[in-house]
Amino acid sequence: MTKYMVANWKMNGSLETAHDFCQTFTRLFHAHQTDNTIVIFPPHPYLSFTNGALSGTDISLGAQDCSGASEGAFTGETSATMLADVGCSYVIIGHSERRQQHQESNTFLSDKIKCALEANLRPIFCIGESEQDFETGKTQEVLKTQLQVLNDFKGNDKLILAYEPVWAIGTGKVARLDDIENTCAFLKKELFDVYQLSSPILYGGSVKADNAKDILSLQSIGGVLVGGASLKPDEFWKISTAIVIPKKPQTSSFSPKL
Ligand code: 13P
Repeated sequence: MTKYMVANWKMNGSLETAHDFCQTFTRLFHAHQTDNTIVIFPPHPYLSFTNGALSGTDISLGAQDCSGASEGAFTGETSATMLADVGCSYVIIGHSERRQQHQESNTFLSDKIKCALEANLRPIFCIGESEQDFETGKTQEVLKTQLQVLNDFKGNDKLILAYEPVWAIGTGKVARLDDIENTCAFLKKELFDVYQLSSPILYGGSVKADNAKDILSLQSIGGVLVGGASLKPDEFWKISTAIVIPKKPQTSSFSPKL
């Protein structure tokens, strides 16, 4: 089964660094190949450029957010349809940085997921607990509340879930492997029992080349959502191939005459 290797560049870089990343990363991709699903999420202004620079590869493009409205007087917003127009197939929704900095509520996030699905984008819906919630044993309670957004999308197989403990993002404090597995197993069960979903579950929070293999080997993990380490093409390539899924052999149409 394919694993999702997701690069969230956040608000970092320039046209020049996007160019350099794509040049190195596509060279590595062509030289080695992998059946993992790789998706790059540049800042909005570099989406079109990155789409062009990734052409001829199986690497997909995603956006870091979309509007919860389809069009109209929303200065500064970008609609899901516009993102699809410039080559996106995925969109991140509900990242903890947006929840914190833009007070995104469950209703608001539900509107965004709806717009994304209507535009044929696959939403990567992010959830995660704060350090205080983690320390006081409230992780599952908090995640259950965040999952309620999915009430409107029961059984929709386009959805991908990302579990990113807020305290592990950009801090170098990666969650313990048994905690990741226990929480993701809980999420898997919750998704299936309550929302009729078998969505892949990605882990995010200080994923690096040297811890990716252990995280990706966990049973309930369907991929990783990488911030800082995804800005370096060599490191993100190491992460993307930390679990090797060899290319499927081409099936031949030749059938010997008996
Ligand atoms: P870091 O990998 O920098 O911790 O960021 C994780 C993240 O927020 C990805 O969306």
